[in-house]
Amino acid sequence: MRLAARHLLFASLALGLAGTGLLASQDPPPRKPPQPQDSAKYIGARVCRNCHRLPEKGNQYDHWGRKTPHVNAFKTLGTEKAREVARERGIEDPQKAPECLRCHLTAYGRPMEDFERTFERVRTWGVQCESCHGPGSAHRTLRTRAAARQSPQEAKRLTTIDIPPGEIRIPDEAACRSCHNPESPTYKPYDHKTFLARVAHPNPMRGKKKQAGGKEQEPEGDAGGSGTGLR
Ligand code: HEC
Ligand code: HEC
Ligand code: HEC
Ligand code: HEC
Repeated sequence: MRLAARHLLFASLALGLAGTGLLASQDPPPRKPPQPQDSAKYIGARVCRNCHRLPEKGNQYDHWGRKTPHVNAFKTLGTEKAREVARERGIEDPQKAPECLRCHLTAYGRPMEDFERTFERVRTWGVQCESCHGPGSAHRTLRTRAAARQSPQEAKRLTTIDIPPGEIRIPDEAACRSCHNPESPTYKPYDHKTFLARVAHPNPMRGKKKQAGGKEQEPEGDAGGSGTGLR
């Protein structure tokens, strides 16, 4: 993580220099330093929830857990319909079949070392945040540190900040199509605009306030469960 933070620092320095024209004459141009996300691990939606459940900022966690089918993608493989689809392909249990899990679970098939232990508890939560946003451990660490640097006064204020590019991915159409494609046995023609509208979870505060170091407030009370059908 320390390494990732250094790369980030380097990236912003390089950008700063480029902005002043100091790097302009260098040849060849400096290689893009590794992005924090390159070495990040999967941490699971439960960790994202710590910071992404504020109603004022769009409550991405509950939106995903209650309003989109992605959270249930693994459960779906336990239905009669799924077993039927699987049987036609000579597959006995779709919830155990790599041919199905690769699109119905998060980061399926990745080696063990790509996951942090927090992921284990939520392994069966279907298509989670990190299926679309990529592994989130570097982002988590950088944001936790930034929050810790704040004064108590700053921490109480509800603000939102811009995240440097490369810290956590914003998925494009191709990322959606990596699962929404004719290799899906139940494929429904994929129209990006309509499909995106059905899962979008924007932060309404974005662009209104641009203050560095906005603090995430931990949401109160129990969560996760009700409405999502999750354990
Ligand atoms: C890791 C694979 C995966 C990725 C990536 C993915 N999806 Fe999905 N998506 C699924 C699965 C599996 C389902 C079916 C879930 C279920 O019904 O249990 C689904 C269902 C949906 C549905 C509901 C479809 C319906 O017929 O009701 C929408 C809308 C959707 N996805 C949009 C998107 C968008 C937009 C993106 C990209 C931003 C995306 N998905 C990325 C796997 C994925
Ligand atoms: C199916 C893919 C998909 C999943 C699953 C998903 N997201 Fe997103 N997310 C997107 C896309 C696409 C955008 C950018 C476009 C949008 O929101 O309309 C986005 C944007 C965001 C943003 C930025 C919003 C803004 O306006 O600045 C946050 C924060 C976020 N997601 C958090 C999460 C969290 C936390 C989870 C899990 C609880 C999650 N996402 C699950 C696809 C996904
Ligand atoms: C320690 C707190 C924290 C955790 C944990 C956390 N985030 Fe964030 N995230 C933030 C903050 C702060 C922002 C900036 C927006 C804001 O102020 O709300 C942000 C922004 C984002 C954005 C928008 C990025 C952009 O380019 O605009 C996405 C996407 C996102 N988070 C996804 C996730 C996902 C997925 C997880 C879990 C894997 C996660 N976050 C975990 C604090 C956190
Ligand atoms: C290439 C990715 C991919 C693979 C592989 C995949 N699925 Fe899916 N599955 C999806 C997506 C995306 C959806 C939601 C939209 C759709 O049906 O196109 C979905 C939806 C479903 C649904 C719900 C359909 C409905 O109309 O309610 C079932 C059931 C299902 N899949 C079963 C399976 C089974 C069983 C396997 C393995 C034999 C499998 N899937 C393999 C991507 C995939």
